[in-house]
Amino acid sequence: MQAYLEAKRTVDDRALNRRVLDQFVAALTARNGPVSVVELGAGVGTMLVRLATWGCLPERVSYRLVDRDAESITRARDLVPDELENAGYTVRWRDDRAAESATLVATRDSTGEFTGGNCRERDETPGPLEYTDAVPATATTSATASASATTTPTTLTITFTTADAFEIEAQADAVIAAAFLDLIDVPAALESIETLLEPGGVLYAPITFDGGTGFVPTDPLDRDIERCYHHHMDEIRDGGSSRAGRELLTTLRRRDWETLATGGSNWVVRPACGDHSGADEAGSPGSPGSHTTHYPASEQLVLEHILHTIDDALTAVPAVMTPFSTAEQEQWHDQRRTALESGMFGFVAHNLDVLARCGPTVSGQS
Ligand SMILES: C[S@@+](CC[C@H](N)C(=O)[O-])C[C@H]1O[C@@H](n2cnc3c(N)ncnc32)[C@H](O)[C@@H]1O
Repeated sequence: MQAYLEAKRTVDDRALNRRVLDQFVAALTARNGPVSVVELGAGVGTMLVRLATWGCLPERVSYRLVDRDAESITRARDLVPDELENAGYTVRWRDDRAAESATLVATRDSTGEFTGGNCRERDETPGPLEYTDAVPATATTSATASASATTTPTTLTITFTTADAFEIEAQADAVIAAAFLDLIDVPAALESIETLLEPGGVLYAPITFDGGTGFVPTDPLDRDIERCYHHHMDEIRDGGSSRAGRELLTTLRRRDWETLATGGSNWVVRPACGDHSGADEAGSPGSPGSHTTHYPASEQLVLEHILHTIDDALTAVPAVMTPFSTAEQEQWHDQRRTALESGMFGFVAHNLDVLARCGPTVSGQS
């Protein structure tokens, strides 16, 4: 699971809706003084690394990562300091690093000294395996640019918590729930998040799955496979919904939140453009005997994980619910795996990014 969460980082990087992200950055920047962020279902910490590396965080931030999976939090405690150092931060543990309550402090002097690159730099200089059509350079707006253009040092105070997201005590200016609200009951989650937010605080919920799963190349069985896969999410899996994005928008309105911004953040995972020569996971040409992949970064692993997840889900769906035989299902999977191994498989998922403020609508938007 942790390897999958790390591998999907580049997929999320491409997918994130820059307009919604920029409004989130603007909302953080508008808060006075130090800003507190709680991330629920934070996984291995890739969202924090992204926000810090892209220059999306204000000058002083306390950031708490919460996940109920102890292995993910353990991985986050290793990955976050390493990645922040790579992005030009100086990191130190304030307490005994081994202690559960240990706090990581990361500082970066100014934009000019950091090496990671913000949205704009990243978009303008795609690496050898990045898609040049992934995100237009113009997608970075003034909010992101101004957050990263600061000359004042940025100080992040980071804590890591292994806990159920809805059993913690906290007060935050912002709650982040990335690829998370589709796994749980949305109305109950919102009720809980309301208790975590300071007055005027915001919820940023990017990559919330919203009812679309597609495969390339297409196959006549795809529609039934998708239907059964979503049925598993809705009726068999413990919690969550295959239409969580639109349910979130509906629930926000019902509970008197103000939806500040929303937009699509579809996942598109496909082979690297025109490069089937094989390259290693760092994007450099493969050497004889090295592991080769047709996909950018570690995205082959993402696709393997998805096919595995779908396989497991379909196995759990009662036969009376599936309009295809076990043999047809196995053949579909075998063809997909073969296509994946030869770099001919693609995957598409429809997600929504949502930014909302707790409290009655004031602008008339929703
Ligand atoms: C799809 S992963 C997303 C992780 C991360 N936000 C990301 O985008 O990489 C969902 C995460 O939510 C965590 N999770 C699920 N239910 C949870 C709960 N009730 N409380 C805390 N974490 C939970 C899982 O352990 C997992 O790490």
